[in-house]
Amino acid sequence: MTVDKQTNLIMSGHVDKGVPTVSSGKGVYIKVKDQKTGQEKLILDGVTGAAVGALGWGDESVVQMITDAARETVYTYPAIIGNDYSQQLADFYIKRSPPNAFAAALWTGSGSEANENAMKITYQYFKTQGKTKKTKFISRMTSYHGFTIGSLSIGSSSRAAYFEDILLKGDQCLKMPECHPYRYKKDDESLEQYKDRLIDHLEQMILKEDPETVASIIVETLPGSSLGTCPSPPGYLLGIRQLCDKYDILMHLDEVMCGTGRCNDGGLNCWENFLPLDQGPDIQTVGKTLGSGYVTIAGVLVSPKVKDVYSATNTTIMGGQTYHGHGFNCLVALKIQEKIKDLNLTANMFKMGNYMGELLSENLLSGKSKITGDVRGIGGFWSVEIVKDTATKEVFDVSLDLGHRIQDICFANGLNVMGMQGSFKGTGDHFLLAPSFVVTKENIESIVEIVTKSIFQLEKELETKGLL
Ligand SMILES: Cc1ncc(COP(=O)(O)O)c(C=O)c1O
Repeated sequence: MTVDKQTNLIMSGHVDKGVPTVSSGKGVYIKVKDQKTGQEKLILDGVTGAAVGALGWGDESVVQMITDAARETVYTYPAIIGNDYSQQLADFYIKRSPPNAFAAALWTGSGSEANENAMKITYQYFKTQGKTKKTKFISRMTSYHGFTIGSLSIGSSSRAAYFEDILLKGDQCLKMPECHPYRYKKDDESLEQYKDRLIDHLEQMILKEDPETVASIIVETLPGSSLGTCPSPPGYLLGIRQLCDKYDILMHLDEVMCGTGRCNDGGLNCWENFLPLDQGPDIQTVGKTLGSGYVTIAGVLVSPKVKDVYSATNTTIMGGQTYHGHGFNCLVALKIQEKIKDLNLTANMFKMGNYMGELLSENLLSGKSKITGDVRGIGGFWSVEIVKDTATKEVFDVSLDLGHRIQDICFANGLNVMGMQGSFKGTGDHFLLAPSFVVTKENIESIVEIVTKSIFQLEKELETKGLL
């Protein structure tokens, strides 16, 4: 299944091992090649890489979109000469969002860059108003916002911990508690009380730091890889919104993984599940499904409030990366998004994804599986958490690395999932499901069948080894 030291030339992952490579894909299936034996295997793609795929693989219409885009676009440096397509993509996103939610967009090459740029846009937003003390960012424990130095600094995971010595300092990138009812809501607490406790904690933190120093509060609308798709209780995001308004702080929602149609019944933004439509974020980052894996594109959307300050103060947005607003990528992403809209695929994903969640809960919860602690998610983004004891929620020893073990078992059974570790104080195992929006009822049933079989297989394996 893997290459070795001599044959692997990719400086990523474990350099002596490498990973299998993909040779082709069609719809929700991919063909994966074992680099040593050359053997190919058809795999049902339950997670579309890292929740990237929307249109499905090998879509013939994309070939035409890409051909047209190659003919029509010419690269220019966007700070000097722009292109219509970045404007059109911004217009598409703004019009498909609630009225007055967003007023402008910056298109980047990756979600990490989007968050990095959002931090700078935030800082400039305040600095240009003379609020130069606003240099602190509050985000959450056990979160992921990308792999550049800035975006790692606002994240909190083993990936960030490893690089701690070279990140922005902790007193500038503060962390509030996760919002994770399965793990942190007390037994004698209602969801509402839990939400109030978190919002109170955040307010105390802002006051302790001095509101005049806090620039933004950054959360994943639906946390992805680090925490595993736990929806926040009603009122939680609104509580953050209200604190941001009260203390002149920007609310930044990271929807790189959960947004752009993955978790919305027909629309684009995940936050529409949680917030009143006229109280959206000030800044939002997006990516992944925007280009659906066919082009590398992500972005930052800003609200009218943010754009207006830049206009009123005649402020130039500092910096411009070579591939900001890349015309080719913007045009292909626009055409892909138009197709998704025309076929109403986000509504399909929402319905099919929720069906997947129901089936998984039916098959695995209520004592049916000894090791499934939780099944959680919304629409097209779900997680299954594995525990040693479903009553006490005790986690397995981290050295067993069961997040990746279950990923391997699913893979052997013909399904691609993303196994993760560390959702609970650096321990805990879960895996993610995020299929393509073209998924059918039959595909969903196949995904659930393989997941169920794989979980019971893992259970047996653990019992045989005396670990359960
Ligand atoms: C919530 C979130 N933000 C940002 C990123 C970083 O995006 P990218 O890997 O495209 O840089 C990710 C990647 O998984 C993510 O899940």
